[in-house]
Amino acid sequence: MKLLNLIKKLPEEKNLAIHPRPYFNHSVELKSIFSPEERAKMLQSVGLNVFFFPSEMITGCDLLSDSGVTTMTNEQWAALHLGDEAYGSNRGYFLLIDQIRETFGEEFFNKPGSGRPNAFIFHQGRSCEDALFTLLGKTGSDLIIPSNGHFDTTQANIQINKIQAVNLFSSELKRDKSDSYFKGNMNIQEFKKLLEKSSDKIPLAYLTITNNTAGAQPVSMKNIEEVAELAHKYNVPLFFDACRFAENAWFIKKYERGYTDTEIKKIVKEMFSHVDGFTISFKKDGLVNMGGGLFLKDNGLFIKKYPDSSEMLTNYQIVKEGHPTYGGLSGRDIMALSVGLKIIIKQEYLTYRINQVQEFGEELHKQGVPVLTPIGGHAVYLDVNRFFKDTEMKPGDFGGIALCALLLAAYGHRACELGYFAFGYFDKNTKREIPSEVNFVRFAIPRLRYEKQDLASCAESVKILYEYRHQIPPVKVTYGRDLPLRHFKAKFEFKR
Ligand SMILES: Cc1ncc(COP(=O)(O)O)c(C=O)c1O
Repeated sequence: MKLLNLIKKLPEEKNLAIHPRPYFNHSVELKSIFSPEERAKMLQSVGLNVFFFPSEMITGCDLLSDSGVTTMTNEQWAALHLGDEAYGSNRGYFLLIDQIRETFGEEFFNKPGSGRPNAFIFHQGRSCEDALFTLLGKTGSDLIIPSNGHFDTTQANIQINKIQAVNLFSSELKRDKSDSYFKGNMNIQEFKKLLEKSSDKIPLAYLTITNNTAGAQPVSMKNIEEVAELAHKYNVPLFFDACRFAENAWFIKKYERGYTDTEIKKIVKEMFSHVDGFTISFKKDGLVNMGGGLFLKDNGLFIKKYPDSSEMLTNYQIVKEGHPTYGGLSGRDIMALSVGLKIIIKQEYLTYRINQVQEFGEELHKQGVPVLTPIGGHAVYLDVNRFFKDTEMKPGDFGGIALCALLLAAYGHRACELGYFAFGYFDKNTKREIPSEVNFVRFAIPRLRYEKQDLASCAESVKILYEYRHQIPPVKVTYGRDLPLRHFKAKFEFKR
C-alpha cells in the first residue's frame, strides 16, 4: 500500500518531541480577571491564609490541591444524569460493586446477600479514617499505627483516638543526591525494629500510595511485598491509603524491573493482593468531586483479627453517613465514580498526567529552583530549606507561608505550605516551635485541568520569586499557632 510505505519513511509518531494530549476540551470556563493589587488586598484581609482566598480570584493555576477532581470527562458528566437518588439500592450502587471488584479484586466487595458486608461507602477519605480508627481505638491502649507517611487527616484521626501515629519514611527521601524512583517506600529496617519491640500494640500498618506526605513519591511493588510479609509474620494486618493507586501503579510499570510489559490493571490487582484492606478518597484517583470508601478483604487478616468489625462499621456508617447502599454519596456521584474508575487506569491518560507534573517540576529544576527529585506523581514539592538556604529566613519565620502569599498576590498562582507550619507544632510547655521532618511548598496539579502554558507561567513566577528570595520577609503568626491542624485555620502577617 502506497500510503503505508510513504509514512514508513517519516519519523515515527511515537518519537516526536511533543505529543498531543490524549483528550480535548469538552467545555471551558472563562476566568474573571483580577489585578495583583486586588489579590493582595483580599489575601491580606484573610490573614495570608491561602485556604481562605476566594478561588474565583485566582487568575493563574490553583495548585492548592489535586483533590476533588475539578474536571471530569464527558462520560462522567453524562453519567451524573443517570444518577438514581433512591434511598436504598440505587442503580449506581450495583455498577460500583462490579467496578470495585474489577479494579481492586473481588474479595473487596461482597455482593449483597453473599458474605458479610466488607465495603463501606463514605462521602470522603477522612470519614473512612474516622470510622476505622474509632473502631481500632476501642481495641486496646497505647496502640501504634506505623506508616510510610501518614497524611495529615489520617494522622489527626489516629491521634484523636489516642493511638500513636508513627512515620517510617524511607532513608532515600532525605538524601538530596538519591535518584531512587521509590522514595515513598516504608523504611523496612525501622518497621522491623518496631514490630520486634511492639507488634502486640500495632492493630494495623499503613502504606500511603503514592506517599503524599513524602513528596508524592511512589512505593515499589517490592516494598509493598516486603512490608506485607513482615507485617503478616507478626500477625499485623496491612492497609493501603489508596488515594493515588493508579498513579503509583504507573510508576511501578515505568521504573520497576519486570513490570514494563504488564498492564496497569494487572499491576493494580497485584498491589492490592498484598493488603487486608484499604481506605480511599475517591477525590483523587476515583476521578470524581466527592467520595471515599473503606474496604476490607474478605477472609483477610484484618477481618480475622477483628471479626466484629463488619457489624460495627455497618452500624457506624448508618449512623454517620447513610444506608450502606449509598453511604454519604448522592446517586449521581456514585455513577460518576463508577465511570471514573474505568478511566483512571488508562495507560495514555496516566502517561500524559504524570508527564505533565514531571515537566512542570523539571522546568523549575532547570531554572535552579530546589524541588524534590525525581518528581512525584501528583505534585511538585519545593524544598523550602534549600530555597532560603543562603538567606536570613529562619525555621520559625515560616518562609513557605511567605512564599505562597507572594506567589498568589503577585502572580495569581495558589500553592500550599506543607512544612514547618503545617506539620510542625508549637510546644505550649517550652513555648517553642517544634519543626517537622520535612519542609515543603506543594504544587498539586489537578487532573485534566491545566495546559502546558498555564504551568509554564507558574514556573516562571516561582523562578522570579527565587531570584527575589533575599528580599522575601519573614511572617509571624497572628492567630492559631497552638491549634491542632493549624494550617487550615491560622492567620499571618509579614514582619516587615
Ligand atoms: C494520602 C491522603 N489520604 C487521605 C486524604 C483524605 O481524603 P479526603 O480529602 O477525601 O478526606 C487525602 C486528601 O488529600 C490524601 O492525600
